[in-house]
Amino acid sequence: MSKVIAIAGKGGSGKTTVAALLIRELQIRGKVPVLAIDADPVACLGPFLGIKAEKTIGTVEQEFQNAREKIPPGMTKASYLEILLNGAIAEKKGVDLLVMGRPEGQGCYCSVHNMLREFIEKLSANYPYLVVDNEAGMEHFSRGTIPRIDQLILVSDPSRRGIKSAQALVRLIGELEMKIPEYFLIVDRTRSGLPPEIRADLNGLGAKLLGVIPEDQEITGLDLKDLPVTEIKNESAAAQAVSGICDQFL
Ligand SMILES: Nc1ncnc2c1ncn2[C@@H]1O[C@H](COP(=O)(O)OP(=O)(O)OP(=O)(O)O)[C@@H](O)[C@H]1O
Ligand SMILES: [Mg+2]
Repeated sequence: MSKVIAIAGKGGSGKTTVAALLIRELQIRGKVPVLAIDADPVACLGPFLGIKAEKTIGTVEQEFQNAREKIPPGMTKASYLEILLNGAIAEKKGVDLLVMGRPEGQGCYCSVHNMLREFIEKLSANYPYLVVDNEAGMEHFSRGTIPRIDQLILVSDPSRRGIKSAQALVRLIGELEMKIPEYFLIVDRTRSGLPPEIRADLNGLGAKLLGVIPEDQEITGLDLKDLPVTEIKNESAAAQAVSGICDQFL
């Protein structure tokens, strides 16, 4: 069965960078194909991975609504939607990307929503790993579009406020009635390890610290050149840190 790893954290904490570096590490370890899901309505996982998605689930939902009358006789709505949804999967060696986007039109898409949930459930069986990059509200999990989380990775910057936000998020997610077996934390963009005050705050978090990723000039350089973060060199500090982190939980 596939393992669903969800990445969460407050705005700008480093979620998409962590998701992309994690996917890169899964590729290196041959744990492919990975299904990357961009569940942030302001989608940007694609550019971090160097994958261009032409369509989003949101645009497909709209396309489906517009084409309802044109469904060939004998074909069920669900199989028609499945064809459209398959067309939204963008591919690169070892990684498939599905961008959720946001609903384009108005009105209730409840029936589409149920078919979408079934599609994602069925699709996930083809992959050993799903990595989901979220926005802070975790909407696709609260609505049940993405069926489960096996490992939740919270990402925080190295500040006490950041850790408090992560704690608030653990509480919020606890209210979603999802059973999440493992909660982890990664602190991104550290400059000189973790200050003792922050280490002390981790006790009340309810998530195990997997490790820290240092502030890395190579990541900054790739961003400035508009290149995907997955092009980072193996010997760079951040790539090494992510490799060490993966040794602990994969
Ligand atoms: N370890 C690092 N070293 C240097 N720069 C980093 C590091 N981690 C992240 N960044 C940079 O910080 C910025 C924010 O990171 P990122 O986009 O991953 O955060 P996010 O939590 O996904 O943000 P959002 O909430 O907007 O989706 C990006 O410009 C990214 O390149
Ligand atoms: Mg992001």
